[in-house]
Amino acid sequence: MSGDGILEGRVAIVTGAGSGIGQAGAIALANEGAHVVVADLSADRSTETVELIASKGGRAEACPTDVRDEPALTALIAGTAERHGRLDVLHSHAGIQVAGTLEQVESGGMDASWQLNVRAHFMAARLAMPHMRAQGGGSIIVTSSNSGVFYDHEMIAYTTSKHAVIAMVRQIAVDYGKHNVRVNALCPGWVDTPFNEPFIAQMGGREAIEAYVKEKIPLGRWASAEEVAESILYLASDRSAFMTGHALVLDGGEAIY
Ligand SMILES: NC(=O)c1ccc[n+]([C@@H]2O[C@H](COP(=O)([O-])OP(=O)(O)OC[C@H]3O[C@@H](n4cnc5c(N)ncnc54)[C@H](O)[C@@H]3O)[C@@H](O)[C@H]2O)c1
Repeated sequence: MSGDGILEGRVAIVTGAGSGIGQAGAIALANEGAHVVVADLSADRSTETVELIASKGGRAEACPTDVRDEPALTALIAGTAERHGRLDVLHSHAGIQVAGTLEQVESGGMDASWQLNVRAHFMAARLAMPHMRAQGGGSIIVTSSNSGVFYDHEMIAYTTSKHAVIAMVRQIAVDYGKHNVRVNALCPGWVDTPFNEPFIAQMGGREAIEAYVKEKIPLGRWASAEEVAESILYLASDRSAFMTGHALVLDGGEAIY
């Protein structure tokens, strides 16, 4: 590490950081000098991300956490603040996609979506806020989706929860701007990660999804997780110092098409 990264001296927590976008974001934050607390449901995947960061000379620690578990989430955030004396960035990222229409999704599917896509973000932000407020600022990034700004076919639980979390982000931004805590939503479109595997299977395999992506997305391709990580870096750092309550859509133009 060169020691002149834009996040030098900052402490970041990333949930769902064991794979895909969360992992790429955690690596990007560490590359810019942040100490990253890697909090994934899977202990193995948490360790893998820490090892990837360490192999590039970055600083990270694994704190496997199920963000739906309130005592575990409380321990994650309180423990981080206690060990490091600060908390500058929270990327609350883990999410779930339950597919189906109003008549297909049962109440359990809606509850599971709400629990992870809204309630866990609420709790994470709520627990991080006193530390950020006390130290005079911070950046909270909540992963929504471009499904939070437009509507997919047959995705009632996903779009409802992803829209709701943007409303929550904006409300927190309004209330906590005076404390210099910025809160923004990250709204990716198609990103090539394991998250889409169930949907790809449902569509009939890789070839079918590639044709779909080519047709439906103006840029004609998926994003890589590393491309999305650039936006995470932007939202986490002072480069977005005057941005709060924003839903940052990066979806190759899908939502405007
Ligand atoms: N990949 C995409 O195309 C895409 C597009 C838009 C939004 N998103 C959003 O990004 C997030 C995940 O996407 P990804 O592509 O990084 O997925 P991914 O499947 O590559 O990784 C998700 C990680 O989250 C972890 N996780 C799951 N439940 C958890 C829990 N309860 N507590 C802690 N960790 C948990 C998993 O173990 C996994 O390592 C979701 O919020 C999703 O809605 C993804």
